[in-house]
This record gives sequence, C-alpha cells and structure tokens, in this order.
Amino acid sequence: MIATAPRSVIDERATALTRARYQRLSSIYDLMEGMAEGRYRPWREKLWALVNGKRILEIGVGTGKNMPYWPRAARMTAIDLTPGMLEIARRRAQELGLTSELRLGDAQALDFPDASFDTAVATFVFCSVPDPVLGLSELNRVVKPGGQVLLLEHMRSAHRVLGAIMDFVNPAVVRLMGANINRRTVANVWASGLEVERVEDLWLGGIFKLIVAKAGE
Ligand SMILES: C[S@@+](CC[C@H](N)C(=O)[O-])C[C@H]1O[C@@H](n2cnc3c(N)ncnc32)[C@H](O)[C@@H]1O
Repeated sequence: MIATAPRSVIDERATALTRARYQRLSSIYDLMEGMAEGRYRPWREKLWALVNGKRILEIGVGTGKNMPYWPRAARMTAIDLTPGMLEIARRRAQELGLTSELRLGDAQALDFPDASFDTAVATFVFCSVPDPVLGLSELNRVVKPGGQVLLLEHMRSAHRVLGAIMDFVNPAVVRLMGANINRRTVANVWASGLEVERVEDLWLGGIFKLIVAKAGE
C-alpha cells in the first residue's frame, strides 16, 4: 500500500525553496564540496560496508557521490528533489556502468509501497529536507520492518556555546547552501519512529555522525 503523507502536510513553499537552492548550486556542487570530499570518502565507504539486502534506496542522491560504493549485486533505487543534481547523477551512473532506477522524488512523500526496501541510505540530506521527521518517517514506512536505515549527517553541536553560534548563523547558511547546520538529527530519527541502534561520532566533537537505525517492527 502507498500511504504517503497528504500533500497538505508538506510545506510546499519550503520544499520549492530547497529545490531552487540546490538547482542553483548543482553545476558547482562537486567543485564546492571537493575539499570536504577527501574527509567524507572513508565515511561513505564505512557506511556502504554496513549495507545489506538486495533492494536498496538512496534518498537525496545528489550528484551521485555514493555511486562508487553502491553494492554491485543490489537493486538500486535513488531519488532526489532537484533536477539539476539528478542530471549529474544520471551521467555519473552511466560513466560507472551502473544499472539503477534514478528518479525525481521528495523524501517527505515517497512514491513507494510500504516495506519496499531492505535498506535506505542518506548522506548529508536530512539537514536540507524541510520537515526531516516527516522524511525519516517515510523511510520508516518504505523500509521493511527491522530493515536498515543508515545516515551520514552533520548536526547541531552539543556544546552550549558552539550550538548557540550555529543557531545564530543558520539562516544565512541555509540561504546560501540549502543546508541547516543546527538540526537535532539523532532526536529527529527517534521522533520519526525509527529505532536508533548506534550513533558514531566522526568529526568535530560529534557534529558529523554516522547513525545506524532500524525500521519499526
Ligand atoms: C548536501 S546534498 C547531498 C548529496 C549527496 N547525498 C552527497 O552525499 O553528496 C543534499 C541533497 O539532498 C537533496 N534533497 C533535499 N531535500 C530533499 C527532499 N525533500 N527529498 C529528496 N532529496 C532532497 C538535494 O536536492 C541535494 O541533492
């Protein structure tokens, strides 16, 4: 059954703004992220080594930076909100000779039946999804009960002063980059109904984390 969130629940204006911001950045995204990518690469590798099952969903595939790590034996489906990002991902998939289903979609209203996937992955996405709890609850719905949800995310610092600075500068960062830097993503994962199994601090005192969660049984 496909029981997506009613469109009325989704903040259409915020979602259109997010799409417009990433559309504007899509042609320079890989260049812009080039320096950081050296640090992200081993984290991506680590996350994808945890993936199991045959039916895998990647949310917010962006320009396809995870594609080199996609399990070759799996049936991959990937979505993104932004046509410009997806276009680059399509080219990358072709270059890598990958067979996959790549389509436009919104994490907040996934166009898949319940329990369609063994695992869902998102890297640096839930900082941008306008309603992250709604998006994460959609993952909880489309992953089979007990299946995996694996996330790499940056989030608000637990340090009191640094956290407050992140709150202060967040509006400017969102306007410029499309991403919120002060999300409380671990709490959001719990709030979505997913079960957090493990959280690993990766960098900057836990601003960057790997989150291993399980869809509700
Ligand atoms: C910071 S980029 C990360 C891209 C990629 N996952 C990576 O690791 O490089 C965030 C991506 O999330 C996508 N995104 C934002 N909101 C989304 C939503 N509601 N549904 C699907 N994708 C979304 C953006 O279009 C963008 O491609």
